[in-house]
Amino acid sequence: MLKIGIMGGTFNPVHNGHLIAAKAARDQFKLDKVLFITGGNPPHKKGQPILDGTARHKMVSLAIAGEEKTEACDYEIKKETYSYTFETLKHLKKEYKDAQLYFIVGADSFHDIPTWYKPRAIMELCTILVYDREGYNPKEDLKNIKSEYYCNVEFIKSVKVNVSSSQIRELVGEGKDISALVPKVVEEYIARNGIYRKSDESIKKRLKKALNGERYSHSIGVSSTATALAKKYKVDENQAYIAGLLHDCAKNLSKEQMMQKCEDYDVELDEFEKANPVLIHAKVGARVAEIEYGIRDKEVISAIGWHTLGYVGMGLLEKIILVADMIEPGRHYPGVENLRKIAFEDIDKALLECMNQTVSFNSAKGRDIHPNAYEIIKWLNK
Ligand SMILES: [Fe+2]
Ligand SMILES: [Fe+2]
Repeated sequence: MLKIGIMGGTFNPVHNGHLIAAKAARDQFKLDKVLFITGGNPPHKKGQPILDGTARHKMVSLAIAGEEKTEACDYEIKKETYSYTFETLKHLKKEYKDAQLYFIVGADSFHDIPTWYKPRAIMELCTILVYDREGYNPKEDLKNIKSEYYCNVEFIKSVKVNVSSSQIRELVGEGKDISALVPKVVEEYIARNGIYRKSDESIKKRLKKALNGERYSHSIGVSSTATALAKKYKVDENQAYIAGLLHDCAKNLSKEQMMQKCEDYDVELDEFEKANPVLIHAKVGARVAEIEYGIRDKEVISAIGWHTLGYVGMGLLEKIILVADMIEPGRHYPGVENLRKIAFEDIDKALLECMNQTVSFNSAKGRDIHPNAYEIIKWLNK
């Protein structure tokens, strides 16, 4: 008889604890397959804001890719109505006719099962496999449940999960590291899509306080221009939006504050930057965005860090931010109209033009020019 494990959950987001529990259940009970079923709109979480099912399911699919005998199932998120465990089990019973179902739950959910929709039917449809959660005593709960229901319950050995999805959401909101709690692919997906990040409004509020009025309007302009360029060049618009918004987040710091941030946040400066402090705001801004604004997307951080200098081999998002900085609607200088046009036709050509302008503008003022500018010009002319 086929033995199917069912790992249900909101997975908001899926984390290492889920994966460890599923693996342990699979091995201990010799399950033929474990299905990760992303909850659509769990009744017991009614009214709470919850991330869209597609995004949660995507994270599940990423997390289990390459995992043996494990599949992601989108049955619940495809349903338009609330999804009840009882209905899902019934559905699976039909799909896998002669299979034995094993429902894998944390001790917290196990404690709550009697309050779920049709608990009796749930317990009749499957064997429940329980893994430990801090603060719960499933053996005690089992006694209570057994006094009222017929049920098959087994305990998954030596798995205690001390990580929770809500803890992860909070950490991301605070810009903290979650790499020890979720698979790398999930961490990247969260960062890339700005999931659980502080809302754009709170980022804008903070930025408005950090910048003068003119610099803030400029940042809004770069953000919208970068978003439009991202759309044109099929780069993630969300990344462009946030990198544009925060590219100058350190620009209005005083020189002393800037130096202090370099020290506090381990920003290394080259000789040229030490001699030309006006350039430092990019590198410092990258760290400020990361630490103070909670941005974890490495590509966004890199685009902020390189928006003044650029480098040979820079990526599309980095090019977009550098160019958007030069052409946002608040910029007025001879030739800007033409550069705006070029930017939407050929981003490399626009970048080359930006670099040529930087060189001629700074040489006219008798300023030193960073070697990156010449190298980029050579690179793009090839
Ligand atoms: Fe800047
Ligand atoms: Fe700027």
